[in-house]
Amino acid sequence: MTNTDKLQPSHIDIPQAGQQAQPEEKATILVTGATGNVGRHVLALLVAGGHPVRALSRAPQAAVWPAEVDVVAGDLADPAALDAALTGVEAVFLFAAPGSGPAFVAAAQRAGVRRVVLLSSGGVDDDAPVQDGPIAAYHAELENALRGSGLAWTFLRPDVFAANTLMWAGQTKAGDVVRGAYAQAAAAPVHEADIAAVAVAALTQDGHAGQIYRLTGPESLTHADQATILGRALDRPIHYAELPAEAVRQMMSAHVPGPILDDIFTTWAASVGRLAPITTDIEKVTGRPARSYHHWVLDHATSF
Ligand SMILES: NC(=O)c1ccc[n+]([C@@H]2O[C@H](COP(=O)([O-])OP(=O)(O)OC[C@H]3O[C@@H](n4cnc5c(N)ncnc54)[C@H](OP(=O)(O)O)[C@@H]3O)[C@@H](O)[C@H]2O)c1
Repeated sequence: MTNTDKLQPSHIDIPQAGQQAQPEEKATILVTGATGNVGRHVLALLVAGGHPVRALSRAPQAAVWPAEVDVVAGDLADPAALDAALTGVEAVFLFAAPGSGPAFVAAAQRAGVRRVVLLSSGGVDDDAPVQDGPIAAYHAELENALRGSGLAWTFLRPDVFAANTLMWAGQTKAGDVVRGAYAQAAAAPVHEADIAAVAVAALTQDGHAGQIYRLTGPESLTHADQATILGRALDRPIHYAELPAEAVRQMMSAHVPGPILDDIFTTWAASVGRLAPITTDIEKVTGRPARSYHHWVLDHATSF
């Protein structure tokens, strides 16, 4: 027996003289919600990292995709689409399509998927016997389907996305006032690129299975604070003018279903006069502090 025989486990192929060592082959990762706020960053980071990536979209023709991405058409609400999307996939970034948990889990088990990173919601409360409102409820259903699945899951529970303020863009293009409900509603808005960076760490590295990450921005801000910061970053004096909640609810009801709208308004009302909790999970996972709302505005200045 040679020294080399003693040191090397038998399952490792030892390159012979004149033979090139092959770089380690990376496993395919499926990104769902790949055209969304977070999913598009997950996709870009994985491509930049040299990972083979497949993207699932209900309308792939409506988006422009990086050349490296294998794009498949499909809806998470349609179990028939899942087997093809999951073939050869090791890890999945999962958008929480309401009610899709059991069919997704069954398809992932059939396909031999190992890891699932779920984009859940900061509204999910582990101590509540019943989740408070439909948004927390359908995200909790997805989490519960994964918990009992034997798959290595990681749950990302973000606070509100800084990107929600893109709904102010029409108003800031027309003037210097943002009109909306609850000027003093508070949250810790989080940059979608930070959520994506945590997701990519959990998709590609060991040590994140069974973890629940609560992802917040670095500071508690009211709607009025956000409007002020938006103006400062754009070098214009923008301020928030509070309208009666019912009037705003009426306007938003054209685009948002009633039960979801009720949930949003209940959350806003309950947060008035409170400070939003801040976590350091983004820094713990990525090694970099969470980006500020000011940073987010600079990244999206052309939208306003
Ligand atoms: N906005 C917030 O403040 C906030 C806070 C915490 C958690 N969240 C959660 O984060 C998630 C993303 O929210 P978002 O508002 O940022 O969404 P978004 O960017 O609009 O993304 C939605 C994405 O999901 C895909 N999608 C939707 N339904 C699908 C289905 N049935 N099957 C397959 N793909 C589907 C869409 O892709 P295609 O159209 O290409 O299929 C789209 O790319 C949601 O679960 C939301 O509840 C949001």
